[in-house]
Amino acid sequence: MTRAMWLLVCTFMVIAFVASADVVKHTFRVGNLTVKPLCEEWVVVAVNGQLPGPTISVHEGDTVVVHVINESPYNMTIHWHGIFQQLTGWADGPVYVTQCPILPGNSYTYRFNIIKQEGTLWWHAHVSWLRTTVYGALIIHPREHRSYPFIKPNREFPIILGEWWNANVVNLEAESRLPGAAVNVSDAYTINGRPGDLYQCANNNTYTIEVVHGKTYLLRIINAALNNELFFMIAGHNLTVVGIDALYTDPYTTDVVVLAPGQTTDVLLVANATPGSYYMAARAYLSAPSQFDNTTATAILQYKGVTSVATPLMPVLPEFNDTPTAHKFYSNITALSGWGYEVPLHVDVHMFITEGLGMEPCGQNATCTLGSMNNESFQLPTKLSMLEAHFSGAVQGIFTDDFPDTPPLVFDYTNENASQLISTTRKSTRVKRLAYNSTVEMVFQNTAIVSVQSHPIHLHGFDFFVLAQGFGNYDNATHRSTFNLVNPQMRNTIAVPVGGWAVIRFRADNPGVWLIHCHLDVHLSWGFATAFVVDNGPTPSSTLPPPPADLPRC
Ligand code: C2O
Repeated sequence: MTRAMWLLVCTFMVIAFVASADVVKHTFRVGNLTVKPLCEEWVVVAVNGQLPGPTISVHEGDTVVVHVINESPYNMTIHWHGIFQQLTGWADGPVYVTQCPILPGNSYTYRFNIIKQEGTLWWHAHVSWLRTTVYGALIIHPREHRSYPFIKPNREFPIILGEWWNANVVNLEAESRLPGAAVNVSDAYTINGRPGDLYQCANNNTYTIEVVHGKTYLLRIINAALNNELFFMIAGHNLTVVGIDALYTDPYTTDVVVLAPGQTTDVLLVANATPGSYYMAARAYLSAPSQFDNTTATAILQYKGVTSVATPLMPVLPEFNDTPTAHKFYSNITALSGWGYEVPLHVDVHMFITEGLGMEPCGQNATCTLGSMNNESFQLPTKLSMLEAHFSGAVQGIFTDDFPDTPPLVFDYTNENASQLISTTRKSTRVKRLAYNSTVEMVFQNTAIVSVQSHPIHLHGFDFFVLAQGFGNYDNATHRSTFNLVNPQMRNTIAVPVGGWAVIRFRADNPGVWLIHCHLDVHLSWGFATAFVVDNGPTPSSTLPPPPADLPRC
C-alpha cells in the first residue's frame, strides 16, 4: 500500500471513529400539565407535556446535552440517575449538592458523556418531591457494531413504575416535615404513567404491549415510585434478568421481580404462552408494617392476532410482606461472568454506617422523625451548592468534612429496646472526604430506631459491588468470610434488607461531591443522606474542570 493510500485509510478510520460517538441533544421544557390518571383532574409538573417524560436513548460513548427550561412555578433540577458524570459533576443535579436550583423562568444545560456503562438508567427531578411526575428513561445501547451479551430481542419496551397522589406533591413534601406528620399514602401506582384497569375511572387507558408468539422482548423496568419497593410480574410468563442498574448480570430466570425506588431491571421475555392477553402487574413490597398504598397497577401483554374479549389473565403476586421472596431476588443476582467487572481487593477506607430513622425534640414536648446515618441527619445548605463551595475551597458555613466512620455507640442495632438508647439524631451537614482513587468499603446496618424497614441506598457518581447482605446485625468475624469477591452484583442502589445489613465496595475515581441517600423520598426529606467529597487526582484527566458558565446561582 502506498503512503497516500494509508493516509486515506487512516482518515476514514478517524472519521468512522468520530462518527460513532454522537452528541444527543434534547430540550426539556418543564411546565404544568393537566392529567387525570384517576377520577380527578390534577395540574402536575412534567417535561414537554409528557408523563412519563421523554426517553433519552444513546449509545455508549455518546455525549448528552439537555437544555432544561424551567417554565414551572417551582425550583427545578434534573438528576441523571446512575450516570457516572466522570469529570462532569456539575451536571449531576441534586439540589444544593452539585448546583443551585434552576429558578422558575431560568434554564440550565446539562452536558455529560456516557462512558463504560450500558443498559437502563433514568432521569428525574432532584428537588422536593417533584420527581413524582418529572422522570423518564435513559437507555444506553452498546456502541455501534457491538452487541448485547444476550440474544438480540425483537423489540424493547421501557416499563416505568410510578406512584401517584391526588395531591400537590410540593405541599405533601412540606407537610411530611412537620412535627408529628402522618405518612401520606399514595393513591395509585402507575405503569408508564397509567394506573390500569383495577382502578376506578381507568378509562380504557391501560398501557398495552403487543407481542408476536415465539419472539423475544427486552423489558427495561424502572422503579420511579417515590416511597415504595414494588413487586412486578407478568401472568403466564417467566422473566430472565440480564441487567440491573445498567450493569450486566448472569441470566437469572424468575417469575417475579422486585425493585426498590431508583433501581432498574432488564428482563428478557419470551412470548411463548398460549396466545391471549395477560396482565403485567406491580404492587408494593412492604418490608415492615405501616400504612401503605395496597393498590395494584396493571398493563397488558397482548398477543398479536388474538381477538378474544376475555379479561386478561392476572398474575398471583407475592403477599405484601413477602420478605423471603424479595430477598431471594435481591440476593441471588450475580454480575455477568467474564465481562470484566473487577472487585477491588485492597480497601483503603472502612465505614460502618447505622442507618434508618431517628428522633429529635422539636417544640413543646413534641418529637420529629428524622432520617439518620450514624446519628447524623443531613441538612442541605441553601446559600451555595456544596460542589461550588468545594471547588472554590470556601466550604465554611456550607459543610464540614467530619462525617463519622462509625456510629456513636455500639448496640444491638436491630433490637427495638436497645435502639431506644440512642434514638436521638442531630442535624448537620457533615460529609466524608476521600482521596482520589481510594477504595471504600461500607457496611450499611439498618437499625430498629423508630422502625425497622428496608432502605434503598443510592450512591451518586459510582457503581458499587454488593459483597454480601443479610438479616440481623453485621458481624465482621463471621460475615466477612461470606463476601463474594468473584462475581458480586453491581448496582447504584441497594435495598438493604429489613432489620439487616449489606456490604458494598467502590473505587472513588471521580472527583466531585456525591450524595449518598435513601431513595425513599420521604426519608430523603427527613435527612437520610450524607455526601462524599472526592479530591482531585494528580493529572488534568483526574481534575474537576470549572463550572459551566450557565450554572444556576443561588
Ligand atoms: Cu435517583 Cu439522588 O437520586
